[in-house]
Amino acid sequence: MGPKKVDGVGVGLIGLGTVGTATVRILIEQADLLNRRLGAPLTLCRVADVDTTRERGLDLPPGLLSADVDGLLGDPDIDVVIELIGGLEPARTYVLQALQNGKHVVTANKALLAEHGAEIFAAAEEHGGDVAFEASVGGGIPLLRSFREGLAGDEVASFFGILNGTCNYILSRMTKEGADYEEVLAEAQSLGLAEADPTLDVYGLDTAHKLAILVGLAFGARVDLADIHVQGIEAVTPLDIKFAAEFGYRLKLLAIARRQGDAVQARVHPTLIPDHHLLADVSGAMNAVYVTGRYVGQLMFYGPGAGGGPTGTAVVADVIELARNRLAGAAGRVPPLAMPWSRLRATPIIPMDRVTTKHYFRFAAIDRPGVLSAVSGILGRHDISIEAVNQKGRQVRGAVPIVMLTHEAPEKNVDQALRMIDELEFIAAPTARLRVEDLDAERPD
Ligand code: HSE
Repeated sequence: MGPKKVDGVGVGLIGLGTVGTATVRILIEQADLLNRRLGAPLTLCRVADVDTTRERGLDLPPGLLSADVDGLLGDPDIDVVIELIGGLEPARTYVLQALQNGKHVVTANKALLAEHGAEIFAAAEEHGGDVAFEASVGGGIPLLRSFREGLAGDEVASFFGILNGTCNYILSRMTKEGADYEEVLAEAQSLGLAEADPTLDVYGLDTAHKLAILVGLAFGARVDLADIHVQGIEAVTPLDIKFAAEFGYRLKLLAIARRQGDAVQARVHPTLIPDHHLLADVSGAMNAVYVTGRYVGQLMFYGPGAGGGPTGTAVVADVIELARNRLAGAAGRVPPLAMPWSRLRATPIIPMDRVTTKHYFRFAAIDRPGVLSAVSGILGRHDISIEAVNQKGRQVRGAVPIVMLTHEAPEKNVDQALRMIDELEFIAAPTARLRVEDLDAERPD
């Protein structure tokens, strides 16, 4: 057993990894400041982790760390449980158990909330517990709190987010150095910037989890994660990044959300954005979200989206909020998704083939007369209007790249047109395709 709570609020933490270690460090090093902010003592009573021997550079009070999760979840001294083990199980079971035991929960677990949010938020309402998850999206950026409270008086029309530091780091390096995806990924892994298994990051799923949370918060919409269109960065080439740059665009993996009548657009894919836009300058492992509100206009949030220190500050801020609620007897005062769970509306996500976007294409064409007119003829018959076109020199390995920007066109038409174009005998390889968002044109409806 660790320290006993004498007065104030008791805290238990499960999962002493990178974020857990930073959180404990802040709670110990800043105890005096945090107690002053709270106006009462905050006591870290127990920490649980399967590994109790690894050196973490922390000066822990004797008995604080153990592998005893059940003891932590049942400890009457503990008011707030911090879950930092990540993944779906046993995190889901621990969070539900904590709520059933009358505790409040802080978590950084975006996958858990995106997959099992309905069950967790309903359990919190049933048991009168608070659930806070600032660290789950945008690391150290006070982002969810801004949506929940700062924008409580506005109606969000759209937002665009760079929400995965690993992908943004890889794309930034590919853009700056013309390096290949595989090469940069391998280097990021060897530096410890990318996970040994980077699947969730590079295939866009981590971004989709964060998008699902933000859509709930921003639009009061309950959406099904499975309906979010998700495309990662694994097929991006430095050649397309370079050609798109010549049209004035930069490539980012974006989480895109837009209210559209009673439905929403919610999609994740590599996206070309104007190189003069603020989001284009968000480089390396940084995160940012660009929001348009009906009354406030445009806002941008920017900061470190990962790492122990930044994410730890978000966890501790949540602990302080829940401790304040506890002391004031005001659990549930600010609902986690900005309105009571029962007030969120089940909202359809517009299927991708009904979304309308601008496109960049790169055709691999055999260089001979009539090629461009055949391609543009097919595009024209599908109502796809061309904004700009450029042939990149003469033949490379039997084909010449022709790059093109289109005006807005329905995805369905683009799918059909590209299928026909790729069947033409003088098209030597499948057409490369990237979606384009001209963010400066963003206006609330
Ligand atoms: N893997 C995440 C990223 C960490 O690369 O941004 C924070 O969720």
